Amino acid sequence: MTHSDDGKLTGSAIPRKSKTADTSADAKPSAASRELQRPAAEALHADELGRLAEADASRPMPPGWRMTPQSVLKFILGDEKAGIAQKFVGRRAMLERCVVALATNRGLMLIGEPGTAKSWLSELLAAAISGDSTLTIQGSAGTTEDAIKYSWNYALLLAEGPGERSLVPAPLHRGMTDGKVVRFEEITRCPVEIQDTMLSILSDRMMMVPELKGEGRTLYAAQGFNVIATANTRDRGVNEMSAALKRRFNFETVPPIERFDHEMALVQQETARLLKQAGVKAALPPDVAELLVTTFRELRSAKTTEGRALESLSTPMSTAEAVSTGFAAGLHASYFANDRITPEHIALHVAATALKDAADDLKKVRHYFNHVVRNRGGPHWQAYYEARKMLD
Ligand SMILES: Nc1ncnc2c1ncn2[C@@H]1O[C@H](COP(=O)(O)OP(=O)(O)O)[C@@H](O)[C@H]1O
Ligand SMILES: [Mg+2]
Repeated sequence: MTHSDDGKLTGSAIPRKSKTADTSADAKPSAASRELQRPAAEALHADELGRLAEADASRPMPPGWRMTPQSVLKFILGDEKAGIAQKFVGRRAMLERCVVALATNRGLMLIGEPGTAKSWLSELLAAAISGDSTLTIQGSAGTTEDAIKYSWNYALLLAEGPGERSLVPAPLHRGMTDGKVVRFEEITRCPVEIQDTMLSILSDRMMMVPELKGEGRTLYAAQGFNVIATANTRDRGVNEMSAALKRRFNFETVPPIERFDHEMALVQQETARLLKQAGVKAALPPDVAELLVTTFRELRSAKTTEGRALESLSTPMSTAEAVSTGFAAGLHASYFANDRITPEHIALHVAATALKDAADDLKKVRHYFNHVVRNRGGPHWQAYYEARKMLD
């Protein structure tokens, strides 16, 4: 699995503005001249998206889509022959259902544990289907209807009254106008009344703008518009969503990566990508990656490879956290230990990066070292056991 086109647009190819050229004090670098920490999927993979859309040009596809459902799947799962990198590890059948859902008159709800790539998958789907993953609403206790539908530019509102010029469209308004996929992240963190703003929009595919007169009062969604919502099963349950809203979505659970070898490959690839982007030379050796991935998988499932039961942690030991831990270990090694990532760095960052301040979990991880890691063969496992003092 490779992010083959990573890096092309992330900066190295783009000349950075030299400081001397930037004479005016408040000159902001333009988007094109700044190295972005994390470009949107459609920018990062513009070349792949362009090629897929071009090949599909004369094929039938759902109205308003940029490419066929088959190409959407290719973009996400990769296609070696066509030079398309795999970006998500998951079952094809689940992804096919996601793509189908988005072509229906219901939205798509991705649920699951934190760190299972729900947000990443929704970004990839929006990038492939609409060429734009940025129409995103971030759900929180403070999300307002304004941030979902539209608000007003008050200066223009006072000067001209309500009209097209004074209306400031929020992601939902824009997605309906342009016929694009809108992402609603962590929808269950919003108060139920705010979530229910989506009800009439999803069923009638139109939005009322009562402040406007005439035609402007009703915004009908253009073809291609749909909604992908995500919800974490840990934070607040999807129970806290009205039955009416649930009926307007197809639900898909995004599970943790099933196979050990797939998770190993992903963690190694993602860690390597992040370390490269950070400009450091450290790399995760395969035996150290094995310690990292095994630890996360065993603690996550509360079961050892040999089938022994472990106490389950309150921290979700997700793949995303494993990648962050590997990345932190790599930076640590390159700043303070000649680029050599050792089992000690992993032990240290399992505590600092993954467990954070969960004291109970730390106890359980110590137990894991004393009762599982200790009995494993191989010098890397022994070195890892010796590193248990890092957890004190
Ligand atoms: N199945 C997967 N396929 C690809 N990346 C994954 C997968 N599971 C976890 N990841 C990692 O997790 C990161 C994204 O996590 P994120 O989308 O924020 O998770 P969530 O929204 O479920 O909390 C990815 O960048 C990747 O490193
Ligand atoms: Mg998320």
